[in-house]
Parts: sequence; C-alpha cells; structure tokens
Amino acid sequence: MDRLLIKGGTVLEGELRASGAKNSALKMFAAALLADEPVTVCNVPHLRDITTMIELLASLGVDVVIDEKMSIEIHANTIQRFTAPYELVKTMRASFNVLGPLLAHYGRAEVSLPGGCAIGPRPVDQHLRGLEALGAKIEMTDGYVKATVKGRLQGARVLFGCRTVGGTEHIMMAATLAEGTTLLENCAREPEVVDLANFLNKMGADVQGAGTETITIHGVESLKGCSHRVIADRVESGTYLIAAAATRGRVKIREANPAHLRVVIEKLREAGAKITLTDDAIELDMEGRRPCAVSLVTAPYPAFPTDLQAQIMAMNCVAEGTGIIKETIFENRFMHVHEMNRMGANIQLEANNTIAVVEGVESIFGAPVMANDLRASVSLVIAGLVAQGDTVVDRIYHIDRGYEQVEEKLQNLGADIRRVAMEQM
Ligand code: EPU
Repeated sequence: MDRLLIKGGTVLEGELRASGAKNSALKMFAAALLADEPVTVCNVPHLRDITTMIELLASLGVDVVIDEKMSIEIHANTIQRFTAPYELVKTMRASFNVLGPLLAHYGRAEVSLPGGCAIGPRPVDQHLRGLEALGAKIEMTDGYVKATVKGRLQGARVLFGCRTVGGTEHIMMAATLAEGTTLLENCAREPEVVDLANFLNKMGADVQGAGTETITIHGVESLKGCSHRVIADRVESGTYLIAAAATRGRVKIREANPAHLRVVIEKLREAGAKITLTDDAIELDMEGRRPCAVSLVTAPYPAFPTDLQAQIMAMNCVAEGTGIIKETIFENRFMHVHEMNRMGANIQLEANNTIAVVEGVESIFGAPVMANDLRASVSLVIAGLVAQGDTVVDRIYHIDRGYEQVEEKLQNLGADIRRVAMEQM
C-alpha cells in the first residue's frame, strides 16, 4: 500500500492545469448506456474511480475504448448483462447510477444497494422514489435493487425531498427515454448536473432548466452518439488554491472555471488572497501573508461545497484568528479533525459534531496520519505541507480515487512530497 511522505514548510508556487471533473465523467459513463450509438467522453481524468466505472461497464459486456489522451468511447449496444455487482458498487457509489439508464434503455436492471460509507449513511431513497414515479417496478432482494418496466418509462412529476446531486442526475438520465414529459422539482444545481444535461442533449435528449431548481425533460424514443468534453474539476482546482493559500504561496490554475468556484474564491479573498480571474484561469497570490481564518457553512451549490470543507479547515489550522465551519451535507465529514489535532491544531467539535471551531495556531507539526475519505485525505496532505517536519499520509488510495497525479502536481509547485510503497519505509 502506498503512502505520501511530505516534508512541510515549502511555499507552493507555480502553475498547473485543472483536470476534468471526476463527478461529471462518472455520470456520463452511466448516461452512455442510454445511447444506441458509441459516445465519446473527452478530458476524462486518470483516476481509480474512473477505472472502476470502466470495469463495471466492461462487466456488463459494454465495449469501452480508451485512447492515450483519456478520450473514452463507450458503445452501449454491445451490452450482454444487466447486473451491477456488489463488489463494484461498494467500492464506488456512483456506479449505482447505472440503474436508471439500464432500466430506461433496456427495461431491466439489477444493481447492488451501495450501503453506507465513511462520510455518512448516504441513502438512495430519492433515486428509487424517482424511478418508481416514472413507472419502474422496484424490488429489493439480497441487497440488490431489481428494477423492471413494461415498455417505456412514463414521464411524471418528481419533487425531490432533499437537494441530491446523484438523485437529480439519476432521474434526469432515466427520464430522457421516457414517454412524455418529466418535471423534476427541488433539483440540485451543481455544475456537474448542467454538464450532464449538456451531454444528454448532445445525444439527442431534450433536457431544459439544468442548473435551476426545476428541470423539464421531454422524453425521446432513442439517443444517438456524440462527443463531449468534461468540464474542469472545480473541487480539484479549489483544493490547489486552498493549498497555495495555506502555504502563503502563489498558484495559477489553467483550464479552470472561475464561475464554478465563486463562493470559494470569495472565502479565499476573505482569507487575504489576491485573486485574479480570466475566463479559464484562476491566479491566487498570498504575497507571503499568513492566511486569516474564515468561517463558513457547507450547503448545496452555489454555496460552499462540502467537498472543500476539509481542505479549508487545514488552512484555518495555521491561520490568524478563529474560523467556524458548519457541515450540513454529510453526517460524518469531520474525520480529519482528530488527525489535524494530533498534528498540533486546535479544533473543537460542537453541536453534535456538526460544527468545528478552529483556532489558528502559529505552527503545526508533522505526524503519521490517515483518513477514510477522499477529501479528508487530501486535507491531511495540505496539513502536511504547512506542518513543521515530516508527515506520512497513509491510505492514499482514497486520494488516488479523485486527484490525478497529486504528487506530480504538488512537486511542480515546489512541494517536497513523494510516494513511497510500504516496504520502502
Ligand atoms: N440523500 C438522501 N437520499 C438520497 C440521496 C441523497 O437522503 O436518495 C442525502 C445524502 O445522504 C446527503 C445529501 O442528501 O446527506 C446530499 O447527497 P447527494 O445525493 O447530493 O450526494 P451524492 O450525489 O451521493 C455527490 C458527489 C459527492 C458530493 C455530493 C454533494 C458524486 C459521485 N459524488 O454525491 O462527492 O460530496 O454530491 O455535493 O458526484 C467526493 O467527490 O468526494 C464526493 C463525496
């Protein structure tokens, strides 16, 4: 098992290119199951989760062709099986989203229930309610959801009981091949939902209103092939911006989308960063200053994303002043707090572990640390970068699920970080 070894204390400085968005690409792979012709998804990041999704498609008998630039061509009509097994769904929840497309296109699907995960129970009730509203017959047996429909799904009105990104995307995909019109209300407005809608429309779907609370889908009989470039990964870009701010550094991120990071940029400005924006680049410069602690509440887009909460907490650990961070999306997303405190941070959890009060300290110290979630793990890398001495981050397979070439990108910014296999330590 690999670990990351970080010698803290360097100031990050330089440029990097934003990778394609994992959370867009994964859903597009599921959506490809709706088409009768091959679809190509370009700018796909080279990540463990992407490989898992490709394995899942391959296990269904779907042809997947990958070129050297990570353009991925998927030909759904070579499909032979309609079951997504537990082994794959448990390693990556996004694979649950093949249920709706399989059902809409082929009338049947059997997909393992994903179960809980490190950051919370993460139910899929909204996904299942939505599919049932479209006419699916859903049965649960042996931990699997078995969904069938006679003929086509039927357009319906679906009011989501909570703002769910995966739920919105799932029902939006399924409704593209339904008979009649579907009205989705209380939808998630994340940029990945919009990217997926644009992809579906290129395939010949008729999806209107993505990015607002109400999405209307006029069902079509079939979907065709297309080619689509995935948007930049806003969480990856945000992570490097925060890392640079925490180290009092300077970074330019190319091929990023500043419009998707408005609240994050606002918070970093509040922390003292000078930020310059163009249409596709974000430049942050701390001009050598120590960041000021910021307070925030995570909430659905366009508010501050839960996926950047742990990273900004790492910055707050060494900032001037006190920052209060409230997590409202996931029940158990403060795993990094105990590890950061072991490094000398001063963080108190309050209100039934939903609020973290971070009192900035002059310096934290390197330690062996680990976390069971992607964003918590990367926040410990940031903590390692600002710590005095050596930090070893264990279980970095979590980071490899969502950060393409993390150590190369950080090395290019001047970080002293390297990957070591267990036996080399
Ligand atoms: N929820 C329900 N019922 C449902 C669905 C969701 O109660 O049927 C709840 C969840 O338990 C959670 C809240 O609604 O408390 C929001 O969950 P959501 O469905 O929006 O999350 P998701 O679709 O499972 C995606 C991203 C996450 C990101 C969240 C929130 C993907 C593959 N994952 O998850 O990304 O944190 O939206 O923005 O798109 C990550 O990349 O590290 C990551 C966890």
